[in-house]
Amino acid sequence: MTRSFFKNLFAFTIMISHLTICESQNFPKKNREQRIGQKADSVLRLMTLDEKIGQMNQYNGDWEATGPITNDGDKQNQIRMGMLGSMLNVTGVEHTRELQQMAMKTRLKIPLLFGQDIIHGYRTTFPIPLAEAASWDLDAIELSARIAATEAAAAGVHWTFAPMVDIARDPRWGRIMEGAGEDPYLGSLIAVARVKGFQGKGLGSTDALMACAKHFAAYGAATGGRDYNSVDMSLRMLWETYLPPFRAAEEAGVATFMNSFNDLNGIPATGNAYLQRDILKGRWKFKGFVVSDWGSVGEMIPHGYAKDNYEAAMEAVIAGCDMDMESRSYIKNLSKLVNDGKLSLGSINDAVKRILIKKFEMGLFDDPFRFCNKEREQQQWNNKDNLNAERQIAEKTIVLLRNENQILPLSRQTKTIALIGPFIKSVRDNLGFWSYIWPDDSARIISPWQGIQNKLGKESKLLYARGCNINDSSTSGFAEAVEVAKQADIVIMNVGEAADMSGEAKSRSNIHLPGVQEELIMAIQATGKPVIVMINAGRPLIFNWTADHVAAILYTWWLGTEAGDAMADVIFGDYNPSAKLPVSFPRSEGQIPVYYNHFNTGRPPKNDSDLNYVSAYIDLPNDPKFPFGYGLSYTSFSFSGIDLNKKSFRPGDSLTASITVTNTGKFDGKETVQLYIRDLVGSVVRPVKELKNFQQIFLRAGDSKKISFTITADMLRFYNNKLDYVFEPGDFMIFIGGNSKDVKESSFTLLK
Ligand code: BGC
Repeated sequence: MTRSFFKNLFAFTIMISHLTICESQNFPKKNREQRIGQKADSVLRLMTLDEKIGQMNQYNGDWEATGPITNDGDKQNQIRMGMLGSMLNVTGVEHTRELQQMAMKTRLKIPLLFGQDIIHGYRTTFPIPLAEAASWDLDAIELSARIAATEAAAAGVHWTFAPMVDIARDPRWGRIMEGAGEDPYLGSLIAVARVKGFQGKGLGSTDALMACAKHFAAYGAATGGRDYNSVDMSLRMLWETYLPPFRAAEEAGVATFMNSFNDLNGIPATGNAYLQRDILKGRWKFKGFVVSDWGSVGEMIPHGYAKDNYEAAMEAVIAGCDMDMESRSYIKNLSKLVNDGKLSLGSINDAVKRILIKKFEMGLFDDPFRFCNKEREQQQWNNKDNLNAERQIAEKTIVLLRNENQILPLSRQTKTIALIGPFIKSVRDNLGFWSYIWPDDSARIISPWQGIQNKLGKESKLLYARGCNINDSSTSGFAEAVEVAKQADIVIMNVGEAADMSGEAKSRSNIHLPGVQEELIMAIQATGKPVIVMINAGRPLIFNWTADHVAAILYTWWLGTEAGDAMADVIFGDYNPSAKLPVSFPRSEGQIPVYYNHFNTGRPPKNDSDLNYVSAYIDLPNDPKFPFGYGLSYTSFSFSGIDLNKKSFRPGDSLTASITVTNTGKFDGKETVQLYIRDLVGSVVRPVKELKNFQQIFLRAGDSKKISFTITADMLRFYNNKLDYVFEPGDFMIFIGGNSKDVKESSFTLLK
C-alpha cells in the first residue's frame, strides 16, 4: 500500500460524496451525460488494469442457469477481489444485498450490476413476446414491460436481457417466441415500446431496468431454424430486414446490446467488428455497452475463428464486445493481451468506461443498495393490479383464426361443456419458456379449467377428459374423451406445445401439433358436437386438418399467469378478439421460410393452380395457411375503396390515403387497419408488400369511420445496392386492409 493509494482513495471518497448530491434527473441530458462521463473517467483513473478487467467480467449466480454452467472456484471471493463487474441470475433483495455488500468491501467499492432475463414478466408472467406482438397494441406492450421492470427492480434486479428484437421468418427456430415476429416495421415499433417500458422514466429511477437489445445480429436467421446456427445473408438483407429493430431500440435509448451466438457471413457476431464497432458504436454512435451472449466469447474457438481463449478474448475486445458473460476469457487473458501489446489500454478503458457510466446512471454509486428495498419487494410480490393488467393484455393477444357460423362467443347459459385436451388443467405450461417458477404457482396461475369455471354459474356443467398426452403416441385416452364429448352440448379443446417445446435450444423440424393431439381433435369432431379448439404454443404450428374442419380456433400462445381467465373472457364474449398474427403460419415445413414481404421473382404464379414453369411448388400453394396480419373478430368489418387526395407527389410533399371502415356485424369491436406499399420498379427488386403503418380503431356495431394515412417519400426509402438509404421516384401500389392478404388497392407516383 503506498501513499498514492490513500491519496486516490481520498479523491475517490470526495468524488462519491459529490455524486450523491448531483445525480438528479433534472439536469439537461447533455450536461448529465457529460458529468457522468467525467465521473466515470475519475474512477477509471484510480483503477488498476486488473480492476478494469474485473468490470468486464460477468458470472452466473450459483442458483439458476440459463446456459451451460462453469463451476470454477469461489465466485464470492472473486467479488471481494474486484474481479467481477456483474452477475446474472441473482435476484431477491436479500440475495443481491449480500453480494453487493461483498462488492463494497473491494478497494474502490464499485457496485455490481445484477442482470436477469426478464423476458415477459418476473413475478407476474405476461404473454410471451410473440403473443404480445399479436396485440399490435404498443401501449399494452409497453405496460407489460413496465410492470415486469417494476417487479424485478423491486427484487434487486438492475438489468434485463430484453427485448429480443430478432426478426424471425422461421418457426422451426424455438426462439421465435421471444421476438415480435417477421416484420421489421412492426418489430421496430415493438422494440421501442419494450425499451420504453423497461427503462420507464429513465435509468436512475428505482423502478427502471436497463434494457438490452439482443441478439446483435441476425440470430433469427439461423440456417434451417436450428438454434445457434450460422447465418449467411447479403448486407442489403441485413440492413433492410434484420437491423431496423436494433436501430429503433438504439434510438429509443436502450442501455445495452447483447451480441449473438451465430456467425454472420463467416465472422462470429461476438468477434464481428463490422457489427459492433462500425455499425453500432460507429455509425449509430451507441453510448452504452455490449455484453456477449452466454459463453459466446469462448465459443469462437469451436466456431473455428479463434485458436484459444487468448485469441478469442482479443478478437472480442477488438470487435467491441465490452463484457464477457460466463466464458471467463476476459478475466483470464486480457491482462496478458495488454502486456503483450495485442490490445491497447485504450480499448480496455473504453469498455470499462461504458460499463461505469451505466452504473452511475443507475445511481448505484450513490447508493449500491437502492434496489434492495424489502418493503418495495413485498409490495410488488402480490400486486393485484399487475395481475389484472396481465389478464387484459392476454385477452388482446388471443387470435381468432376461425369461427364457423359464429359459434363463438358462447352463451353463459350453455348447459354442458366438455373440456378436453392435455392443457385444460395445465398450470405451469401457461407461462411458457423464459418464465420464473414460484412456490405458490399452482395457486396463482389460472388454468383453462379454472378460468372457464370462474365464468359460469351453477346451472352449467363442466365435464373433463385429458384425451392424450402432449407428445406421445398413445391413443388410450381417446375413448373416454369421445364419451365425454357425446354427453356435452359443446366441446372446448386445449392442445398445443408444452412450455419447454419452444424457446432457446428448442428448435423443431416438425412443427405440427405434437403427438396425437390432432388425431384426438379428429376423434372428437367425429362425434358431431361443435368443437372449439384453443392452441397454446410458442411458435406458429401446423394444424391444417383442424383449420379446415372444427367450428372455431383460438390461438392462445402461452398467455401467462391469468391465462385461463383471459381465455374464458374471450370464449364467453367479455372480450371480442382483436389480435392479428405477427408472423405467417405455414401449411407445411417445406414452405419455410414463408413470409408476406417476399420478392415477386421473374416467374410469379398467376394463381394457386398455375404450374407453368413458375416459382411454385407442385404439391402446395405458395401462400401460408394464415397470412401475416390475419385475425378475426366476433364482428365483421368492411372496407370502402381507397381514396387518394392526389395521384402523385414530390419528395418533401405528402399524399393522404383514406378508407372508410364499417363494423358490419353484431358486436362492437376493434380492427387493426393495415397500410402496405409496394415499390413497383426499383434499382434493386422490392417486396410485393411492406407494412408501412397501421391504426387500431374501435367501432360500435353498425358504425363507420374514415381512416387516413399520410404517405411521405421517407416512408418509401430502402437500401440500394450501395447500401444507401434512398427513395426512388416511380410508381407505387398502396394496399389497405385487415390483414396482409385481403386488401383494397390503389396506386400513386412519386415524382422527381
Ligand atoms: C441467451 C440469452 C440470454 C443469456 C443469459 C443465452 O443463452 O441466448 O438470450 O440472455 O443466455 O441467460
